[in-house]
Amino acid sequence: MKLQKMFKRSVELGMQADVRDKKYFDRYFKKQKEAMKNAKGWKKDIFDEERTWNPYSDCRIINGSGKEEVTTLMVGIDIETPEVLLADRLREKGQKIDCLFIHHPEGRALADLEKVMPLQIDILAKAGVPVNHSEAQLKPRMDKIWRAIHADNLFRTERAAELLGIPAFCCHTITDNLVWAFMEKNICNKPFEDLSEIIDALMKIPEFKYYAEKGNPPIIVNGAGSNRPGKIVATEFTGGTNGPEEQLVSQSKAGVGTILSMHVTELTFTKAKEHNINMIQCSHMASDTIGINLLLDKIQKEEKRLKTVDTSGFIRVKRK
Ligand SMILES: [Fe+2]
Ligand SMILES: [Fe+2]
Repeated sequence: MKLQKMFKRSVELGMQADVRDKKYFDRYFKKQKEAMKNAKGWKKDIFDEERTWNPYSDCRIINGSGKEEVTTLMVGIDIETPEVLLADRLREKGQKIDCLFIHHPEGRALADLEKVMPLQIDILAKAGVPVNHSEAQLKPRMDKIWRAIHADNLFRTERAAELLGIPAFCCHTITDNLVWAFMEKNICNKPFEDLSEIIDALMKIPEFKYYAEKGNPPIIVNGAGSNRPGKIVATEFTGGTNGPEEQLVSQSKAGVGTILSMHVTELTFTKAKEHNINMIQCSHMASDTIGINLLLDKIQKEEKRLKTVDTSGFIRVKRK
């Protein structure tokens, strides 16, 4: 499969798993196309055409024309210059690597990370939080992330890939949407007597089991194993990066009992204690790995020859 086709399919699959519906995306693309048409001067020069068909600003091809034939992906949760060198070294030793699949964004996908965060409003709305609350709480956090990332040295990885001639793409919110939908279906919508039963259920999922065996199991960070879960949500699995701590308070008011999270910040942890919300910190790497595996399972149906070289926290687990 050509790189461009693989990436476009990934975008489509991300939208299918998204909490927002087709109408939302149609409206979004229409607005972007209008903005592109009306842009003038330097605003026209820097307009990101990609936004007219890809709603995920943290997902894009960061090196390559898209015409490259891809059957072997080197997949990693974090791929930076060291991993690009690793790919080059492995190629030198005879390992076939056609392209890098990077989860945590690099290059422009990182520069535009905060632009995917409004997705959190819809994820929280599904958990019962009014959109006006989430929207007001999110804006200052988005601005903060934008300012922080703005100062980063953003293009090191993509330049390394360019110099070594290795195509690469970032796939972040796409696969986070897939693992969010998976957790909704397999955990949040199931009845559990207490938190320890949720941990038992998580441990039946191969990626969590693998990481637990390595000393990185899902853990209850607030609440006890014997606590009743109440309403379970997976509101900290997708939406770019951690949202503001006020979201925790709003979720408590909306009747949320237990939050499943990839990673819990200290401030969120403090708020969870104050507001009696149970929190389970599922392994970050295992959670990101599940999302990537779910996407690769779907891509593999269309590209039977697909193989992976597993690096940087990722392990390939195939599902039927
Ligand atoms: Fe992720
Ligand atoms: Fe992550």
